[in-house]
Amino acid sequence: MQNGVREIFSEVPKTYDAVNAISTFGLDIAWRKKLAKLAAGFGGERFLDLCTGTAKTAIYLKQATKNKTEICAADFSLPMLKIALTKPQAKSIEFIACDVKKLPFPDNSFDVATISFATRNININREILISTFKEFRRVLKPGGCFLNLETSQPSFWIIKKLFHLYVKLFVRPIGTLISGSKKAYTYLSKTIPRFYSAQELKTLLEQAGFKEVNFQKLPLGIAAIHIGKKT
Ligand SMILES: C[S@@+](CC[C@H](N)C(=O)[O-])C[C@H]1O[C@@H](n2cnc3c(N)ncnc32)[C@H](O)[C@@H]1O
Repeated sequence: MQNGVREIFSEVPKTYDAVNAISTFGLDIAWRKKLAKLAAGFGGERFLDLCTGTAKTAIYLKQATKNKTEICAADFSLPMLKIALTKPQAKSIEFIACDVKKLPFPDNSFDVATISFATRNININREILISTFKEFRRVLKPGGCFLNLETSQPSFWIIKKLFHLYVKLFVRPIGTLISGSKKAYTYLSKTIPRFYSAQELKTLLEQAGFKEVNFQKLPLGIAAIHIGKKT
């Protein structure tokens, strides 16, 4: 499936940012900025944005952190990274093409690591997700923090039902129409309802060894930011 994921993201790079903005009515921007602000609040010299895609979040990290903060951004899709590299705001970001399941960094390399809207993609199964979270933890310095922004499951069943219907009946067709990739947006509409609740994700992060794990639900509970610490 990992090759499948890589293929899917090679079909959508040119329209990826536009579909994100349209399908969330611009909310994704507010959420990414919130993640970047929270991440910057932890301070440090080296930040890593995992599964960076077109670098939307990495750019907000660059803007939210101090000038001398080094931002590295990793992704295994060269077409997505190619779009990232065209962005003038990404000029001072260091991009690394790699699979985040096996990061090419020594232990204790980063002060902060972030991921946005990609945890669903590494959730091939529970075991792979936990071992990938362990890999993220490995590259963090002791005291470092991991911040995870991802869609979640609303607590109220009616909102949850409406959210899943919205993804199926609006995001999937609009994404398919704009990108021309039926595969990519069918995949998205299948992974969102299957993903964990905020509480379940907290447990998985704890199983990967993160401490003091907390989460903030974003409006309606359709997304959440989790924060875990490497002690
Ligand atoms: C939905 S996009 C999210 C991109 C970006 N983080 C954002 O917020 O817009 C998912 C990204 O994760 C990347 N990805 C998925 N699995 C990966 C893996 N195992 N290693 C590296 N990148 C991966 C894909 O190539 C894609 O760019």
